[in-house]
Amino acid sequence: MIDVHSHILPGIDDGARDMKDALEMARLAVADGIRVMVATPHLFKHKNGDLGAINEKKVILEHLDRFRDRLAAEDIALEVLPGCDVPLSEKALSLLEEDRVMTVNDGNRYLLLELSHFAIPPSLEEICFRLQSQGLTPIITHPERHPLILERPERLEHLVDLGCLAQLTASSLTGGFGRQIARVSRQLVKKGYIHLLASDAHDPRHRPPRLSKAVSELSRLIGRERALAMVTHIPEKIIKGELAT
Ligand SMILES: [Fe+2]
Repeated sequence: MIDVHSHILPGIDDGARDMKDALEMARLAVADGIRVMVATPHLFKHKNGDLGAINEKKVILEHLDRFRDRLAAEDIALEVLPGCDVPLSEKALSLLEEDRVMTVNDGNRYLLLELSHFAIPPSLEEICFRLQSQGLTPIITHPERHPLILERPERLEHLVDLGCLAQLTASSLTGGFGRQIARVSRQLVKKGYIHLLASDAHDPRHRPPRLSKAVSELSRLIGRERALAMVTHIPEKIIKGELAT
């Protein structure tokens, strides 16, 4: 399986605290059947968007190099690729224009985009169009955890119609974020709004990199073939920068 959303790089955001945690997460991922993981630290190290601490391309690549060396030294068979968890904000968009934001596998083709919890901006349509005209497809992360989508799931349909892809978080489907989010997750999957399943792992204990349990639940909802595609063929196309749907 391929996991396109994880906070596995140590000491760079609110994900893995240190190398020990990161290696433990890598071992858990491999044991779960994950062979490729995109490391997607938050663009802003601190929640307040402090411009002194930006996880820009070169920072992510430096951390990734160190992590890959340790994985090789520990003989852990996990391929880790660069990525970034990008909040939808003016600041993030201007950094993107300056070519400082890491896209999925540095391919300049897919971008993980997290909507602000407080609002879906009226300019979102225009932002999507602008990104797409630069050849970038936004992947909306965990729409099932967004209060405005929980309230009206058809809001996601609109984003998908605009050409965005949508990534569901594995533990949302298996109840890790509560019953309401699990229910909305099933609803979004059944309506066909979801393209990808990812772990959004943050640590080895509370939010570990596990996909298999959610894939079983997905299989029950939409059949094994379509469920597996969400953790194999579709993410594979995304990391290769090919058309995914
Ligand atoms: Fe994330």
